[in-house]
Amino acid sequence: MAEVVVKDLVKRFGSETLAVDNVSFTVGEGEFVTLLGPSGCGKTTTLRCIAGLETPDEGDILIADEVFTSSRNGVCLPPEKRRLGMVFQSYAIWPHMSVSENVAYGIQAQGASRAEVSEKVVKALELVGLSGLGERNATKLSGGQQQRVSLARALAYNPRVLLFDEPLSNLDAKLRERMRVELANLIKELKLTAIYVTHDQAEAMVMSDRIIVMKDGRIQQEGDPHATYNEPVNSFVADFIGVTNILEGKAGERENGKGLWVDVPSLQSKILCAKGIDRDIAAGSDLLVTVRPEYIELGESGSNVHNVLEGQVSDAVYLGQSWDCLIQSGSFELRVQVRGDADIRAGQSVTMSISPSRCVVLSD
Ligand SMILES: Nc1ncnc2c1ncn2[C@@H]1O[C@H](COP(=O)(O)OP(=O)(O)OP(=O)(O)O)[C@@H](O)[C@H]1O
Ligand SMILES: [Mg+2]
Repeated sequence: MAEVVVKDLVKRFGSETLAVDNVSFTVGEGEFVTLLGPSGCGKTTTLRCIAGLETPDEGDILIADEVFTSSRNGVCLPPEKRRLGMVFQSYAIWPHMSVSENVAYGIQAQGASRAEVSEKVVKALELVGLSGLGERNATKLSGGQQQRVSLARALAYNPRVLLFDEPLSNLDAKLRERMRVELANLIKELKLTAIYVTHDQAEAMVMSDRIIVMKDGRIQQEGDPHATYNEPVNSFVADFIGVTNILEGKAGERENGKGLWVDVPSLQSKILCAKGIDRDIAAGSDLLVTVRPEYIELGESGSNVHNVLEGQVSDAVYLGQSWDCLIQSGSFELRVQVRGDADIRAGQSVTMSISPSRCVVLSD
């Protein structure tokens, strides 16, 4: 059963801005789902509608079968009746209070006894690794520690669902990377349901069970990190998640059980594509094909006999574990990632091959 149901959500700001344009998704119990997309695509607005901080123009929001918002029936529960934990980008720490007082703030408002509050605070601080810092003034902590305080506050509240809005983006790169893993592990350990907002694709990949990619208030694609990366549905998703090559082509014949031939004039070649072809594609129609740089292999390997390309290395940048190369093939400059121990130089002529299962036809 779905823990969170968002159905046909629409939110406008004035007559100009359609911030959320008919968004529907569900989040299962204990699932970690991320809303991912560029600035202004409607992530925060969607989250704020779930929290009850915005009233949507249309749509329903249910949590554990309870109707939180229903525009048709005029229902919109206030935030304090929703029992959801929220963690924001700004830590929202009260500067004049100690760490413990900050964590206690939400539960005191729920009317818990002193002993209960103190027990919950100690437990929450322990969970986020801040035991012993309870008496410290909250502003005398590092950014990472302050973010843990706001997480402890959300956890102490015993929320049904945790909502996160770019909680790590104010931390430095190293700490951010560590906190990603820690936070995702903690959420899993506690079996919490989480909806997480970020514009950082690496963060979404590392933390999520499922990623919902948004653009201009609309969902573009929904899937686990592996599927989102390897089978993007359109050029926006392919390009937003990771680095990729996007080739313009024309649909050709289907090769029985193996894929669809696509004529790519810029490569002066035909490419056999095995992904993104489970739909009617008229022969001769224009389409786009995406291939990730790391799936283009140097040399002519046996299984890839179909997609063999000749090229010349125009640029090769050494990154330690890999080479980031540009390889001219026909009139197209392919981005190719090669293992760091490969022997490769600018100017070199190379043969490349691509497995058809790595060639994805896009829907746009
Ligand atoms: N209170 C508001 N009044 C008017 N317009 C708003 C308001 N809040 C958001 N918007 C607009 O709605 C759209 C979606 O904004 P939202 O904050 O949801 O984007 P976001 O995906 O969270 O972006 P970011 O990554 O920059 O945080 C934007 O065009 C934004 O300018
Ligand atoms: Mg936002």
